[in-house]
Amino acid sequence: MVERKDKPSNIPISPLMPTPQVSISDDNTRVIATLPTGDRVEVLLYGATVISWRSGNGKENLFLSEEAHLDGSKAVRGGIPVVFPLFGAPQSGHETGKLSQHGFARSSRWEYLGKSSSESTSIPGMGGDSSVKLDFGLSEGIIDSKAQSAWNHKFGLTYSITLSTGELSTSLAVSNTETSSWEFQVLFHTYLKIDDISKVSITGLEELQYVDRVSGEKQATAQQTSITFRKETDRVYTKAEKPITVLENDKPRFKVKRDALSDVVVWNPWEEKAKGMADFAPADGYKSMVCVEAGSVGQWMTLEGGDTWEGGQRIKAL
Ligand code: BG6
Repeated sequence: MVERKDKPSNIPISPLMPTPQVSISDDNTRVIATLPTGDRVEVLLYGATVISWRSGNGKENLFLSEEAHLDGSKAVRGGIPVVFPLFGAPQSGHETGKLSQHGFARSSRWEYLGKSSSESTSIPGMGGDSSVKLDFGLSEGIIDSKAQSAWNHKFGLTYSITLSTGELSTSLAVSNTETSSWEFQVLFHTYLKIDDISKVSITGLEELQYVDRVSGEKQATAQQTSITFRKETDRVYTKAEKPITVLENDKPRFKVKRDALSDVVVWNPWEEKAKGMADFAPADGYKSMVCVEAGSVGQWMTLEGGDTWEGGQRIKAL
């Protein structure tokens, strides 16, 4: 083999290569991670709620209400609240029946367990495909006494939030640390930020039956076309297998892939319902959000004593 004369030399791996940065806010309420590409995520320890996710070009991908409570007094209106151990209003007679709507995970202060990161050296100065994973934990010992007595079980949740270029993944491991089984539901209540709801359509849920939470219909007629929004929309799609694409002006804006989460809730409160929520602002904010919530909520999942369940979502900003 003839050796090229002007063969480029190997790119040196500089010890100064930019790496993902993670910091904790001075008041110890938030964890912020930034990639060398400018991608950034901000997580409130209260609820382990992702309250901001920005792409490298500075574009915010999540809707956060201007009146959202970020002081730990109420679940956050926006971002990605974590719903556990029940979805929706409590059902009397069920073991979660004394909890409040969507459970306690979104309104408990989680523990920050630490970070792990991976760096690629493929694009010097840009940080290549680096990613950073933030882990948070919640267990019966750190939820408040009201939630503890309303749902008297031993459990451990490990929530991992991974930021990579143009992508955010959230995954939850749920462990039953007692000997008998209990039932639960889980969901990532993701508020996606969009420019104009009247230009938005969602594909990937066509031909699926759904529960219409606005009309109360248990088996609403499957629709052949993509979902569009002209009024309050609150639907629970079950057994959804395909990835979900959120388009704006017919151009893909987000792609959501799911792992072990068979259900998808699609929610927009529209004008009247938004007005009725004290923590929802501005009043026309419903035009710039759509919730696409990956979860397992169609039925109860049973977790045997000593077992762990895992599920997650991966959102790509396009
Ligand atoms: C959605 C539900 O997941 O959450 C809606 O499908 C509900 O019915 C919405 O209104 C917001 O719930 P909350 O408890 O945050 O006001």
